[in-house]
Amino acid sequence: MTKKKIRILYASPECVPFANSGGLGEVAGSLPRALNRKRDIECRVIMPLYGAVSDEYRQKMRFLGSTKVGVTWRMQYMGLFELRKNGVTYYFVDNEYYFKRDGLYGYYDDGERFAFFSKAIFEAIAMMDGFVPDIIHANDWQTALVPVYQTSIYKREFMKTVFSIHNVEYQGFYGDTAIEDFIGIPDNYRHVLEFKKGINLMKGGIETANAVSTVSPTYSMELKDPFFAFGMQGIISRNSHKLSGILNGINTVVYNPEKDPLIPANYSAGDLSGKAECKKALQKDLSLPETDSMMITMISRLVPAKGVDLLVPILDNIIENNDIQFVLLGTGFPEYEDFFRGLEARHPDKVRCLIKFDSALSHRFYAASDAILVPSRSEPCGLTQMIGCRYACVPIVRRTGGLADSITDCTLGDGNGFVFDDYSSDGLYSAIMNAYGTYQRKDDWKKLSVHDLKCDFGWSGSANAYRELYRALTGGPGE
Ligand code: GLC
Repeated sequence: MTKKKIRILYASPECVPFANSGGLGEVAGSLPRALNRKRDIECRVIMPLYGAVSDEYRQKMRFLGSTKVGVTWRMQYMGLFELRKNGVTYYFVDNEYYFKRDGLYGYYDDGERFAFFSKAIFEAIAMMDGFVPDIIHANDWQTALVPVYQTSIYKREFMKTVFSIHNVEYQGFYGDTAIEDFIGIPDNYRHVLEFKKGINLMKGGIETANAVSTVSPTYSMELKDPFFAFGMQGIISRNSHKLSGILNGINTVVYNPEKDPLIPANYSAGDLSGKAECKKALQKDLSLPETDSMMITMISRLVPAKGVDLLVPILDNIIENNDIQFVLLGTGFPEYEDFFRGLEARHPDKVRCLIKFDSALSHRFYAASDAILVPSRSEPCGLTQMIGCRYACVPIVRRTGGLADSITDCTLGDGNGFVFDDYSSDGLYSAIMNAYGTYQRKDDWKKLSVHDLKCDFGWSGSANAYRELYRALTGGPGE
């Protein structure tokens, strides 16, 4: 008799390659694929059908049916589409009123949009041709109502929920009428969402999920600390018996300098010459002098958590006094964008700041650059330091969250990057100067680059950890 598989429905507000704004989309695009390589797991993904999902994918989708979903007093249309790709079945929840808009988030009614999505997931299961999940794995505040609805309304027997926190900073916090306005759960469950005179979706997810996970072991500990937890420390401590920290992986097929079609020359640990070509090509494209200067990059959302404040007082000085070129790719707070525009204006022959999010272009930045800055104040996991290693773009990071779990300092031995502890410009300055010093010693730098290229940041280990978590919740697949 063949063994049944554990069936996971991975609920995410974003997923590469369909619609993406950052790290969560990358994880949703790669973890389910890795899980499906395990013989005892079948993981499918469900996400909203945003206007941004391209025709290329829409044309391949199969329409599975439609129904109505109650969002308190409103009865809203829901259509369900299916697409199979790379061994994963993807479901798309269609409602043009909620999701046919520019971008993904940032609307006045985001709470209502994602309450609709979370509820639609339960209605969608009936249309999945017999796929009944053992576990719904929800991610971040946008799907935090999934475990809340399972606990308070649907109460599906044998179905468990996992809630993953990718970033505790964004919680989905609303006024105290949110339950009547758009959430709609029985009054005796109100307390699971109530928090500090309002309604907090992430709190509800943590309180009601059968298991809570976050994206690195260090962040799972930091979440109990007010410095990192944005008010959630008490709730997380109270639920720490069901909390685990599992380090994210990256998609090593998409991020592979040996085969990457998005970079001008390929390279490997055995032959790094293509990396030098990538640097020259980017310098040419950006009209920077084609020199062997150390090229440092930053590829990031430009928000306070990413540590831009630390750079502001020191970056002019570093660039002025050293043979360093600096290239940036990112968008965010206007004052940070202005700082980087100003930096470029002050150092036109050494700095290029591209104020945009462009994932194809990011491959060229990783491949061309010698080092990448990730000086985050807090970093649940961080992916750019891992992608950096993969492209021999050595990470310079602060020891926090997933950065602490993936990068070790090479100054005193066998590490893969440069690490500083204190959240201070001095600490960051020393780490950059350390990296610059090492860059001058060509043999040492080559050794470090080769070591980084060989680091394994694939999903295999972490997919096993999720598998263990799923097995613990379900008792493993039945006979
Ligand atoms: C969020 C976090 C980032 C993490 C990503 C994926 O974007 O800020 O640190 O890598 O989610 O889990």
